[in-house]
Amino acid sequence: MNTVELSDYRACEKALKEPHLKQALYDEGAIVMDRVLVTLHGDEHRTRRLLEMRVFRRDFFRQHEQEVIPEIYEQVLAQFASQGHMDVVDFGYRVMLYLAIRFAGIDTQDGSREEFDDLVRMLRTFGLAATLGQSKLDREEAKAEIRATLNEFESRFFAPSAQRRRALIEQVAEGTLTEDELPMDVLTVLLRNEDGVDLDGDMVLRETAFYFLAGAHTSVHSLGHAVHHLLDWCAEHPDQRKALEQDTARLQHFVHESFRLHPSSPVSWRTALQATEFLDGQQAAQGDKVVINLRQANRSPEIFGADAAAFNPDRQVPQGIDRTGLTFGIGIHSCLGKNLAAGTLPREGQIVPEEKRQLGTVAWIAQALLRLGIQRDPEQPGALDQTIERETWQTYPVIFEAR
Ligand code: HEM
Repeated sequence: MNTVELSDYRACEKALKEPHLKQALYDEGAIVMDRVLVTLHGDEHRTRRLLEMRVFRRDFFRQHEQEVIPEIYEQVLAQFASQGHMDVVDFGYRVMLYLAIRFAGIDTQDGSREEFDDLVRMLRTFGLAATLGQSKLDREEAKAEIRATLNEFESRFFAPSAQRRRALIEQVAEGTLTEDELPMDVLTVLLRNEDGVDLDGDMVLRETAFYFLAGAHTSVHSLGHAVHHLLDWCAEHPDQRKALEQDTARLQHFVHESFRLHPSSPVSWRTALQATEFLDGQQAAQGDKVVINLRQANRSPEIFGADAAAFNPDRQVPQGIDRTGLTFGIGIHSCLGKNLAAGTLPREGQIVPEEKRQLGTVAWIAQALLRLGIQRDPEQPGALDQTIERETWQTYPVIFEAR
């Protein structure tokens, strides 16, 4: 088996749409990732994806942005802000975790701080499953920890959450509850399984854990990078910070530029199911591994200009190219949560009223923190995670400027 690595933007983009390339990034993390949406292929993938898209019912995004994010943000902030300092990574984990369990369909049981800390620990462990192929940790030890954590997640959180939803679904069937009163989450959609897709109990458990992970982990890391670039830029343009804090559309451009520079996984991996020729002229034989280098593609000077590797929120991007590059994937496995995390950018010249804006979780939180006056902690510099071949902030300490 050979490995073909693609880094040309157009070749990567086309490869991500290629139906004969099968997902291969998560093979090592099968304890959680086996037959979850992102590892399925062909018809099975298509029918599961269509089923899960039912979560985005009418008003889903409006409710998420105007009610769910603000409520959770305030709740978590109350635990941190009184200290006068905090770690953006830790804070991000907490906010994103609450958001992710809402979307996945997991209920907290007693709402205690201890329970919440346990969920953070579980999320970090599931994160190991998704990145095990790129991790420097002992694989067998990590797998044992992931298995034990999945069991704990099942008994403490998944089982009671599923039981509550089954009861609600039954009430809808009996006509004592309306469809609109059902929770808008993945677990509810999977338990209803209106399309009759092939799903057993273990698959529903893993899928829910996967959404818990997919919804939170990537966004935490993206928040760290976005805050870093924003604070860097503000340090260089101190007289423009106040204006940026109020200019939502511009701030969203900043965050999209940060997404482009830092895809949460620098690479996608695929296995060629048949001989395939790529746009850059390279070829893969059946069974070859194909590495799609998102990070490098997103820094292509031919697409993003001579300063492609630099942070430039005022960058002009060619028509048809997303400002976030390939960070959210494209084609078959394109991210289902992109609108949640990144919102939608208004078109050039389009004026969108405040109440209709869709900022996305990362820009929403980054803006709120900036408005609170966060500054890098001069005593403690942020540190990147050294245990993984991904560029992620392990800690990012900030202090609150008096306002
Ligand atoms: C900054 C945040 C995020 C980033 C950078 C991101 C990135 C990605 C990427 C690159 C893929 C494609 C993987 C591949 O092609 O192999 C993907 C797939 C996916 N993402 Fe996200 N994601 C983010 C947030 C979210 C959120 C908030 C959710 C859920 C609510 C989510 C749910 C999913 C799902 C379900 C898939 C699988 C889609 C499929 O296989 O059909 N993601 N994401």
